[in-house]
Amino acid sequence: MSPSQSIPSTYAARTPDPLAQQISELGDWFHNIDLRGIQTAPNHFLGDFPNVKWRHIAPAIPQDVSGATVLDIGCNGGFYSLQMKMRGASRVLGIDICDRYLNQARLASRTLGLEIELEKRSVYEVEEIAGQFDFVIFMGVLYHLRYPLYALDKVVTKVGGKLIFQTMIRGSEEVKAWESNYDFWRKDMFADPSWPQMYFVEQSYSNDQTNWWIPNRAAAEAMLRSSGLEIESHPESETWICTPDGRSREGRFVHQMELDGTL
Ligand SMILES: C[S@@+](CC[C@H](N)C(=O)[O-])C[C@H]1O[C@@H](n2cnc3c(N)ncnc32)[C@H](O)[C@@H]1O
Repeated sequence: MSPSQSIPSTYAARTPDPLAQQISELGDWFHNIDLRGIQTAPNHFLGDFPNVKWRHIAPAIPQDVSGATVLDIGCNGGFYSLQMKMRGASRVLGIDICDRYLNQARLASRTLGLEIELEKRSVYEVEEIAGQFDFVIFMGVLYHLRYPLYALDKVVTKVGGKLIFQTMIRGSEEVKAWESNYDFWRKDMFADPSWPQMYFVEQSYSNDQTNWWIPNRAAAEAMLRSSGLEIESHPESETWICTPDGRSREGRFVHQMELDGTL
């Protein structure tokens, strides 16, 4: 290699791309987003995440959501919020409890020129957000919560159109039709691995001490129905698309009925 050829690469090594530097200054990314040719999480343990998931979910969501409103709960680096904005959503609100992730989402949104709102807020506080949304995205959060069903009950109150729900699942993926009631002395069904169940993690799972409750498939689906949703599709093993179930709600939400003592 001639000396003149070596100059540009030496120069490039000394002057990192400012965008690459900004990405790196925001810490470890969980979402791998392509920001002008730079991958934000190229070494993610799940591969090109969440593209690997989105590939299966995307066809189950309208390609054109022009004018729609979207609430993305636990939005992280903003991957799903940005995807919905790219599909034409008029308003996308991403919430998360983590400043680092929110700042990553802000950088991604700015860099891609896609305007989304980002707010530090917990899922437990969604009821304080005015109105309902055409799409509520609640992905990858349930199993991180100590009060998962309480959170889901609150999330449901925000669903005007569809809920896109994802959770890690473990245990049986079999789904059976169960009876609507059992005698007090019947216990055999609880030993069936496909009975709806949640695994409680007292310490840590996958080096993450916020993985508290991991449902099997039957429990994930049962909780969705029990919170007042109808399952419309199941585009991949951990994801469900649901709509509000007008039949069981009668204008009231199940957690309000529990709190009122009217269940
Ligand atoms: C496994 S990541 C999932 C991110 C993204 N929704 C996805 O599916 O790729 C979990 C996200 O939920 C956020 N989170 C955890 N507890 C939360 C809470 N109580 N309210 C809102 N977000 C929460 C975390 O900060 C993190 O960004």
